Amino acid sequence: MMQSTSQQLLNIVSLQWATRAMGAHLKIETLAKEILAVVNARIPGKNIRLALWDEQKRHLSLEVETRSSRVRFSPSSGSEMYRKASGLYAPIFKGTTIYCPLRTQDKFLGLLIFESPSGLAALRTEQEELIACIRLASVALGNIALLMESEKRGQDMFRFNVLSRALNPTVNETEIIKILSDGVEWMMPFDASLFLILSKGQNTLYIRSKKPLHPTVLANLKKLSRETFFNFTKNALNTSALAVEINAPSGKQIRSPVKAFLNAPLITKDKIIGLICLVSFQQDQFTPRDHQNLSALAAHGAVAFENAWLYADLRRTYFSIVSALTSAIEAKDRYTRGHSVLVSRYSVAIAQEMGLSASLIESIEIAGLLHDLGKLGVPEDILLKKDKLTPAEYEVVKSHPDIALKILGPVEFPHFKGQEKTAESSPELTLKLFELADLSDEVKMMIYHHHERYAGGGYPKGIKQEEIPLGARILAVADTFEALTADRPYRKAFSTDEAIKILLKIKGEQLDARIVTVFISLLRKKGVEALRESTAGSF
Ligand SMILES: [Fe+2]
Repeated sequence: MMQSTSQQLLNIVSLQWATRAMGAHLKIETLAKEILAVVNARIPGKNIRLALWDEQKRHLSLEVETRSSRVRFSPSSGSEMYRKASGLYAPIFKGTTIYCPLRTQDKFLGLLIFESPSGLAALRTEQEELIACIRLASVALGNIALLMESEKRGQDMFRFNVLSRALNPTVNETEIIKILSDGVEWMMPFDASLFLILSKGQNTLYIRSKKPLHPTVLANLKKLSRETFFNFTKNALNTSALAVEINAPSGKQIRSPVKAFLNAPLITKDKIIGLICLVSFQQDQFTPRDHQNLSALAAHGAVAFENAWLYADLRRTYFSIVSALTSAIEAKDRYTRGHSVLVSRYSVAIAQEMGLSASLIESIEIAGLLHDLGKLGVPEDILLKKDKLTPAEYEVVKSHPDIALKILGPVEFPHFKGQEKTAESSPELTLKLFELADLSDEVKMMIYHHHERYAGGGYPKGIKQEEIPLGARILAVADTFEALTADRPYRKAFSTDEAIKILLKIKGEQLDARIVTVFISLLRKKGVEALRESTAGSF
């Protein structure tokens, strides 16, 4: 009857703790102290301690005691005791101390430790109480561990969500490595990360470490061959060979040797394209949960690399088509050879100076190259005429923005750069997210409106000021300057200074004064030659 009442009381206490834990009002330190208080009340007169297993730090870290104790776990003695006790349900007797493993079915939670200087026989008389206390502590700690686990899962899901949004198709190889290594750092502890990426027959090894690596370790990491990495990938559990190779291939021991690895191959379809390897100078650093997370991250990374490479191919094809179209325009009008490329370069320089976004700058670059595309539809006798054009001929020339719009009608301009954004929802880490914008109309409208006048009265629509797309206003400044400083059949080229004077005269009327000011200051700062030879853009 007595035992039954005691058991019932403990069950009630356990249920109460479990409920408080579910409500997240109970901290593990408080719970540990409460467990000890109950155990001490049930089995008085013993020196009792509770050591909790810290899954992340991999040792028995939190120790709570009722009296001063002679034994404390150092990281190494804690690890040793973990190895002995973690697989056991039965207590371990050692001298006058009894170590009782606390566990749920699949998880080691810690140890309830009794010291009985008068001998263990005294403790054996309280076996029933002891078993009930172990059960109580296991249930209570198991519940709080479950709660903490589900909180961590939630955090992991949030982090994966942020990372997969960051890994969009517009990021390149270096950016993917940055996002993945930030992500790994965000999710698990380690001392150095290695990313081996194989693309187009090239091996690239990226190494990032939190503190300076020992020169020997660094040199040995760099020397690792592709074969070594792949053997390692295939035999994920056989890490000792790699450790020897990294730490001391010549047999010499060095300080801070690598003690633990965690690795995950990057696999696309059936091909291995790389490996993420985390290195730690601490034994037992990585948990099965870290392994799961790294594997999931590697899967995300592999898809991102594949997309980035496909994207780079698409981008190259796209730019070669734009280059071909530019050549077609210039082949038709021999007097303006090189004009489109220069207009594009001046426009990119202005846009960069104005601090516009990468995606807008790229649109301006493409629009600069194709702004006179419509001249393909203007008869050569008009285009190449040396004498003054008749009003009727001028009307034909003025139709070139319309012709360009017709040619480009079905063309969709891909948005290679995307729009950069910072993930505000992740205070622990600043990741750059990219949002894809529809730039098709943006490029077409810059081309369509590049002959509008700032004060109105231009063509094809006669719109004015801010109604004219910003890109078109930038193109107009670049186009005017390039035309002034190039030879024409009917006049010689103006010098840069003469062209600047003309720009100053027509600013506010024909051209946007703000953009003219930016361009003139750029010309004075960098010189026209530097702007002409600039390769800051994609072409
Ligand atoms: Fe034009």
